[in-house]
Amino acid sequence: MSKKVFIRTFGCQMNEYDSDKMVDVLHAADGYEKTDNVDEADLVLFNTCSVREKAQEKVFSDLGRVKHLKAKGVKIGVGGCVASQEGEAIIKRAPYVDVVFGPQTLHRLPELLSKQMQTSKSQVDISFPEIEKFDHLPPARREGVSAFVSIMEGCSKYCSYCVVPYTRGEEINRPLDDVLLEVAQLAGQGVREINLLGQNVNAYRGAMGSTSEICDFATLLDYVSDIPGIERIRYTTSHPNEFTPALIEAYAKLPKLVSHLHLPAQHGSDVILAAMKRGYTSLQYKSIIRKLRAIRPDLHLSTDLIIGFPGETDADHAKTMKLIEDMQFDNSFSFIFSPRPGTPAAGLHDDTPHDVKQKRLLQVQKAINDNTHALSDAFVGKTARILVEGPSRQSQPDAPELMGRTECNRVINFAVSQQAMTRLPGQIIDIAVTQRMGFSLRGELELVEEAV
Ligand code: SAM
Ligand code: SF4
Ligand code: F3S
Repeated sequence: MSKKVFIRTFGCQMNEYDSDKMVDVLHAADGYEKTDNVDEADLVLFNTCSVREKAQEKVFSDLGRVKHLKAKGVKIGVGGCVASQEGEAIIKRAPYVDVVFGPQTLHRLPELLSKQMQTSKSQVDISFPEIEKFDHLPPARREGVSAFVSIMEGCSKYCSYCVVPYTRGEEINRPLDDVLLEVAQLAGQGVREINLLGQNVNAYRGAMGSTSEICDFATLLDYVSDIPGIERIRYTTSHPNEFTPALIEAYAKLPKLVSHLHLPAQHGSDVILAAMKRGYTSLQYKSIIRKLRAIRPDLHLSTDLIIGFPGETDADHAKTMKLIEDMQFDNSFSFIFSPRPGTPAAGLHDDTPHDVKQKRLLQVQKAINDNTHALSDAFVGKTARILVEGPSRQSQPDAPELMGRTECNRVINFAVSQQAMTRLPGQIIDIAVTQRMGFSLRGELELVEEAV
């Protein structure tokens, strides 16, 4: 019987991607399969996040909860950004952990596990090896119609509040040919939607073959768009400072590029943006979006916002609220500033009481939720184009249902016949939207589709 690995993933999509890669390397080396049931696991891994203090502390309470599994021979490992930042300190605090590895050494996981078994000593490897981990990863094994492809690792921006450049290292770009090969392989496995992944994907500068030429992000999008079978292209996350005219032009040239953009703004006040070392003003952010909406009036925009950065006044906060109103964000990841050890902002004087920050956060979240619902309501009574992914959560054998996503990532559930259940996933179809249900929508298959 094959061995089983259970992975708990925290943090961003980079970590989601890395968790899939952990399963791939363990499968290739030792035949491991993934399980969602921790009680049948031979190996339990935590892929951790240290972007905020709460995320970091959660790991230690979760580790305590699986400690008892050691008695039946289960191995425990900690990877990701907390591992990268804490290293040996994790073993000191939780000596029952068998392996600690960073985002750049996850390909060494099988080797670390076998070393631990030979020596009965916990193994730690959080180095940033010269050779990229991509060179050591087995080919992707994916099911489903949508997949992530990492095009770059790390970050060299050093925003004053952020741990990522320290936990993931500086930017490393994956060569263009490797990216295109992985996308083509995924397309061959039935993937129709590609999400290009990295901390600042639009800073991409990938080597082109054996030439000294460098491929930028807009050119990469051109190449990906030409791969047969790929119908939709997404990317996350991009940075306002790297939004070149060529990238804006790509929205006019490439219909496969979705009309949805996640572009972190972080704040609406230029004073705070400067203290964050973001390198742009609120006007520059707005100007990018204005140009994009001139090309794609239907562009849905989501963002990241940090509330309560040290020194944030009521007037600064009002500028964030104004930005929300002007940009009509469809969604956001908004959190209160968390001082991270080792980052410059952790040392800044901060005299805003926590309850004031909490109130500001609630105000931001309410304004954005209201936008989300208003934008969802605008779909009702219209036709939406969706990529059908598979059975909806509510699907029953006697009442089959499928779900798909619009370009702006809204889930639409709809009833189908048994035949359509297997025929439609992977197709892009039109749906008549009938109702909003919380954050998702309900629809009806257009008659013409059902008849095909
Ligand atoms: N690279 C992306 C960018 O530049 O916008 C974002 C990557 S970061 C891992 C994800 C988000 O976490 C950031 O956009 C920011 O809003 C948030 N974040 C990072 N450090 C934070 C901190 N110290 N406190 C609160 N939120 C933080
Ligand atoms: Fe962090 Fe800034 Fe890099 Fe984004 S750009 S990962 S916020 S340092
Ligand atoms: Fe967290 Fe690391 Fe991602 S800190 S948000 S897991 S890059």
